[in-house]
Amino acid sequence: MGSRMGTKRKIILAGNWKMNKTSIEAIDLANALNRELGDVQEVDVVICPAYTALSEVHEVLTDSNIRLGAQDLHWENAGAFTGEVSALMLKSVGVEYVIIGHSERRQYFGETNDSVNKKLKAALKNGLLPIVCVGENLKEREAGKTFAVVQNHCEGSLAGLTPDELRQVVLAYEPVWAIGTGKTATPAQAQEVHQFIRGLLGKMFSADAAAGVRIQYGGSVTPENIAELIAGEDIDGALVGGASLKGESFVKIVKHCCGILK
Ligand code: 13P
Repeated sequence: MGSRMGTKRKIILAGNWKMNKTSIEAIDLANALNRELGDVQEVDVVICPAYTALSEVHEVLTDSNIRLGAQDLHWENAGAFTGEVSALMLKSVGVEYVIIGHSERRQYFGETNDSVNKKLKAALKNGLLPIVCVGENLKEREAGKTFAVVQNHCEGSLAGLTPDELRQVVLAYEPVWAIGTGKTATPAQAQEVHQFIRGLLGKMFSADAAAGVRIQYGGSVTPENIAELIAGEDIDGALVGGASLKGESFVKIVKHCCGILK
């Protein structure tokens, strides 16, 4: 396994809170994280609460280095789209990052490469920083289709972007079989796919743009496994679900990456 030493890519750690935390619970967690991580500069830290808590969490994060992210968006800025939330609305409550194409959205809510692509373009047009998720499920991995699926997700989701636009994008490789299951990809399995993604981006855009793109790993990341995952040369951070819901474990993950905890 290689090492990240020598790369200029800043590690980015994002907590995807999914459909968890009422507003009061979200404020409590954000306060706890802010006390421990509000000054962190070595890595980028993002938290992604549910829509209902964004505004209040943004207030907690005033003067903090922790950035605010959302979990989805609609591609139009406004209109008759009941239940949807636009990039403009997210920006108005202080959101800077947005997760797009999470596997749970692909699996349960009909998200496709096409809708991911439209959302990605809307995010970029409005100055939001997208975190675009790709990854295979268990059946696909067992059938030896991991690279084909990841390639399809990357090509479909990123279609029509320029190399300069790609530089604004964070990718997240999340093997579906490792999400919420306690099963983590081994560091070698994760690195293998991350390297493949970077090579693919090099062919789709330019070697230079691909070298600058940050690729997070997601899937049962914990304080116990973060150090070995982040050692992978092409692994530039993590998108954390379950372990981001407890202040203590997310803080440990971030501190490991800052070199504060070994
Ligand atoms: P877990 O960390 O709970 O496996 O979730 C990963 C994930 O889906 C983050 O977006």
